[in-house]
Amino acid sequence: MPETLATYDPLLRRIHWATALLFIAAMLIGLYCGLQPAGTSPRRELLEIHKSLGVTLFLLAILRLIVRGRTTAPPAPAAFGAIVRALSQLNHWALYALLLIMPVTGYMFSSAGGYSLRYFWTFSWPRLFAGDKAIAHAGEITHDTLAYLVYLVVGLHVAATLWHEFIKKDETLARMWPRRVDRR
Ligand code: HEM
Ligand code: HEM
Repeated sequence: MPETLATYDPLLRRIHWATALLFIAAMLIGLYCGLQPAGTSPRRELLEIHKSLGVTLFLLAILRLIVRGRTTAPPAPAAFGAIVRALSQLNHWALYALLLIMPVTGYMFSSAGGYSLRYFWTFSWPRLFAGDKAIAHAGEITHDTLAYLVYLVVGLHVAATLWHEFIKKDETLARMWPRRVDRR
């Protein structure tokens, strides 16, 4: 009899790993660009990619929340105590929140500040709020401040996964990345 394991919905799992890849790329590009002087190359070009990744992540997050709402998440692993369960839920909520807030604040900053919003070398997104300095400022401050929370929350998320996989050797990663079980 094959071992059975409760896992996340297959589509949700695919979106999770696509998000993980794109999000970490956007985060690292943002970090690099934040350290470079404004108006220099390759900051300008990399920011275009950063913004396009950000918009893609926003659309993926909406799709993901719809899939999440329509499917059943596996119950927390039995080995999780009440505190671990609460902390992991808090971490996941923070990740979902950042997936929505980071693109919105980045868009506020770029569109109100009159910066380019070209999507992967193709068309340009409309610049709502063009010229509204208050919106541009609020977007910039929030985006740059929340960047620190991004590093912390993503860092904890990845560290927790490594801890479960290599130290606790439990089924946490297999719920999102099935191995022997539930291969479709
Ligand atoms: C999930 C999506 C996103 C993440 C995780 C993210 C993350 C970051 C991070 C970590 C930084 C570096 C902050 C700093 O050191 O100052 C940054 C900078 C920046 N982001 Fe994003 N971002 C996202 C989406 C967007 C979007 C959609 C836009 C615009 C449409 C955008 C526009 C910018 C700009 C213009 C900067 C440079 C800010 C500066 O140098 O002051 N971001 N982002
Ligand atoms: C290499 C990087 C990553 C690894 C190894 C990883 C691993 C995992 C694992 C094992 C789970 C299942 C945890 C459980 O069931 O308790 C999970 C869930 C989750 N991950 Fe990640 N992850 C990564 C990156 C990310 C990124 C960058 C984001 C978002 C910005 C993210 C967002 C989430 C969310 C929101 C959940 C909860 C799923 C739900 O309940 O709908 N992950 N991750």
